[in-house]
Amino acid sequence: MEVIREIAPLRGRIKEIKGENMSIGFVPTMGFLHEGHLSLMRKAREENDYLVISIFVNPLQFGVGEDYEEYPRDLERDKELAASVGCDLIFSPPVKEMYPRGYSSFVEVERLTERLCGASRPGHFRGVTTVVTKLFNLISPDRAYFGQKDAQQAIIIQKMIQDLNMDLELVILPTVREEDGLAMSSRNKYLTPYQREQALLIYKALQKAQENIEVGEKNTERIRESIREIILQGEEAVIDYIEIVDTYEFQPLSILQGSCLIAVAVKLGEVRLIDNIMVEV
Ligand code: PAJ
Repeated sequence: MEVIREIAPLRGRIKEIKGENMSIGFVPTMGFLHEGHLSLMRKAREENDYLVISIFVNPLQFGVGEDYEEYPRDLERDKELAASVGCDLIFSPPVKEMYPRGYSSFVEVERLTERLCGASRPGHFRGVTTVVTKLFNLISPDRAYFGQKDAQQAIIIQKMIQDLNMDLELVILPTVREEDGLAMSSRNKYLTPYQREQALLIYKALQKAQENIEVGEKNTERIRESIREIILQGEEAVIDYIEIVDTYEFQPLSILQGSCLIAVAVKLGEVRLIDNIMVEV
């Protein structure tokens, strides 16, 4: 496995791989890898001849006062984990390689990016779509792998690929959870033991919603209320949103119908956690 930090040698290597007619699977990440990331890599390993991952904490997708500086970084540990699942190449550029002085081009998906996380993190998805476009251009993957954990992000990327005629397939894989159900996240490491206990209520609340839906509940106001009640059992929990929306335009639903996304964002102290489930009705 090799680690490349600059664009010129990356382009050289990608040209060689393409020249050998090998298919490229790509997993973009911000590092501090966990089982969620590794599940994407294993699938990409299986489905492609060559596996590229990127590790880049993208400043463009963090707002003022968010945790860009504090975001966990550990390239040595990440290298070992990536090698253990058969990664061929890690692209891990410094910020100035991706955004040199005078950088001024951005990619923006409209509407979808204004809702859910986009409402509380203005500019966040513009940062995501811009960096992902740059990475797609650099790596020319045949397939790119994203997690349902960040459902809104995955759906926005899918829309961008379609709208901008990008020539690759997007693969979305299920959320990987800790044994007790908490969705894995690089940010979990910042939870105090007591916050970690409260964080579990997010999953419990979504599970309860799923159970209610299975026995026929369709009224989204009641579903949201039951989710709220459970999450607020956590003393420190501050709810950013609990939304039940369609998966195409993220329009709020009053009655469950079709393909629905139930998404929540909760702050525990300084740590913002998101989770979701999808239901077909
Ligand atoms: P990051 O948070 O590192 O996540 C990288 C990928 O791993 C994303 O597709 C995310 O959905 C997926 N992932 C994270 N936790 C997961 C879990 N518990 N189960 C399954 N998949 C999980 O998302 C980003 O980085 C960035 O926004 C990025 C796309 C790299 C652009 O900077």
